[in-house]
Amino acid sequence: MAIIEVSNVKKSFGNVDVLKNITFTVDKSEVIAVIGPSGSGKSTMLRSLIHLEHVNGGSICVQGDYLVKDGVYANGQGIKQITSKMGMVFQHFNLFPHLTVKENLELAPKYVKKASKEEISQKSRELLEKVGLSAKADVYPARLSGGQKQRVAIARALMMNPDIILFDEPTSALDPELTGEVLQVIKQLAEEHMTMIVVTHEMGFAREVANKIMFIDKGEILESGKPEQLFANPKFDRTRAFINTVL
Ligand SMILES: Nc1ncnc2c1ncn2[C@@H]1O[C@H](COP(=O)(O)OP(=O)(O)O)[C@@H](O)[C@H]1O
Ligand SMILES: [Mg+2]
Repeated sequence: MAIIEVSNVKKSFGNVDVLKNITFTVDKSEVIAVIGPSGSGKSTMLRSLIHLEHVNGGSICVQGDYLVKDGVYANGQGIKQITSKMGMVFQHFNLFPHLTVKENLELAPKYVKKASKEEISQKSRELLEKVGLSAKADVYPARLSGGQKQRVAIARALMMNPDIILFDEPTSALDPELTGEVLQVIKQLAEEHMTMIVVTHEMGFAREVANKIMFIDKGEILESGKPEQLFANPKFDRTRAFINTVL
């Protein structure tokens, strides 16, 4: 069953067409790795799914509800309700520096007030344990390594019980020795059947964890397929050339 259906999504900045007819579906428990050159529209595509970018055409349907249908957006309440099903993890973590780790996790859940303080506190403790950071609950982000910050960001996304998590190059800002600990958390989520879209340059990770690879070039999904097929036997020279530059 498709959790997300994207059809013919278009986005331009000024007169530059950044997304051209983007069409794909995400099934429940699927892990999609998005690869492609810098500037090809990967971030814009992810950001469009949670309405951090306003698209200029096409449709995005999340579990049967249209965020945007043929270029026309849902009303404000509808947009909120649909985007709240998705969590996002950014390259640069985007933690609040003036809040402790635990406070970072609890800010959004407390704001939406769907659970009691005690429930929220218990959940944040559980999630910090899950990402191996129980000992860091009361420290400020500045005291953490990049890998630890990103694991906090993942725990924070999980606090809202998302049906899908979007990762935008979650390890690109990390020193190589810290990449593994973050990929390990994402891999664990995949094993727990979390639905995820991961923009990444980590081809080994993509090959091992993703069910599907999507190659984006110049605002288009040039091809997509199972990792073994796409890596070994890409249909297009552009795909092959890109894979060769990052392997
Ligand atoms: N807010 C913006 N205003 C103008 N141009 C933008 C903006 N955001 C992205 N772009 C342009 O859109 C294109 C795609 O960017 P992006 O989605 O960030 O690519 P990627 O994530 O694949 O590197 C780039 O040419 C970029 O310069
Ligand atoms: Mg990007």
